Amino acid sequence: MSVTNFPGRSSSASTGIPITKVTVPALAEMKRQGKPISALTAYDYSSSRLADEAGIDLLLVGDSLAMVVLGHDNTMAVTVDEMLHHTRAVRRAVRRALVVADMPFGSYHGTVSEGLANAGAEAVKIEGPRVELVRALTDAEIPVIGHLGLTPQSIHRMGGYRVQARTAESATRLKADAMALAEAGAGALVLEGVPREVAAEITAELPIPTIGIGAGPECDGQILVFHDLLNLTFAPTAKFVRRYADAGALIRAAIEHYREDVEHRAFPSDEESYHLPEAARKTVAEQTTGALRQA
Ligand code: KIV
Repeated sequence: MSVTNFPGRSSSASTGIPITKVTVPALAEMKRQGKPISALTAYDYSSSRLADEAGIDLLLVGDSLAMVVLGHDNTMAVTVDEMLHHTRAVRRAVRRALVVADMPFGSYHGTVSEGLANAGAEAVKIEGPRVELVRALTDAEIPVIGHLGLTPQSIHRMGGYRVQARTAESATRLKADAMALAEAGAGALVLEGVPREVAAEITAELPIPTIGIGAGPECDGQILVFHDLLNLTFAPTAKFVRRYADAGALIRAAIEHYREDVEHRAFPSDEESYHLPEAARKTVAEQTTGALRQA
């Protein structure tokens, strides 16, 4: 397994165990060893740090940023600059996980050289069977993760968020695209919104790891959107989402409690306040009394 040990914070604060950096070749080794890859989306410093410390292998700065963080209706509104801003925050937080940055809509849909100019990170993810671009990025030493199946940047062409590869013909095409991306140098492949049987067959035949989202349990790894996992979205979730905690309810209740405390002057308490030292308190009191007498 390929390793990079960080010169600074190179061991876990809690256990003292050296941190072994996850790399793209390390993902391939995990596939060889049959070790499932855990992946999650990430967008900011604090949540990325928590996810990294929780041992997630791959953190994707997804263009889902547009929806779950910036409030847009779909993923296509996010810009290269916005993606860079959030990728830098995640990068600062992470010691162990592989950080992958999504290439946003429009940043690689023109020429291959435009795509090359906009790329650059520990690894980038691009949607669709863009074999030529994957080859060019790989040749430029930029690791690439492919993304096939339900590719959200294609919602207009697909006519909505629909499960893909539901016919024998489209499943065969998907498999051929997956093979072509692997041959072009992709380091892993996200399979989104495809039947379990199709994802299982691709996973068994592909030399690179598959990371599924709505693609069944046979994929080499799984990815979820951070906000879906924690109930921080404000819409019904897709069938494949499992909510592991209700952070939405927790945060709402804590904020309501804070507001009530402020309204009832129950916050801050004396212990939460700074105090003047005794001598200074006396001087201030005397000056105030003197000023009142003169008035
Ligand atoms: O942007 C994103 O969050 C993604 C994942 C759903 C794979 O592409």
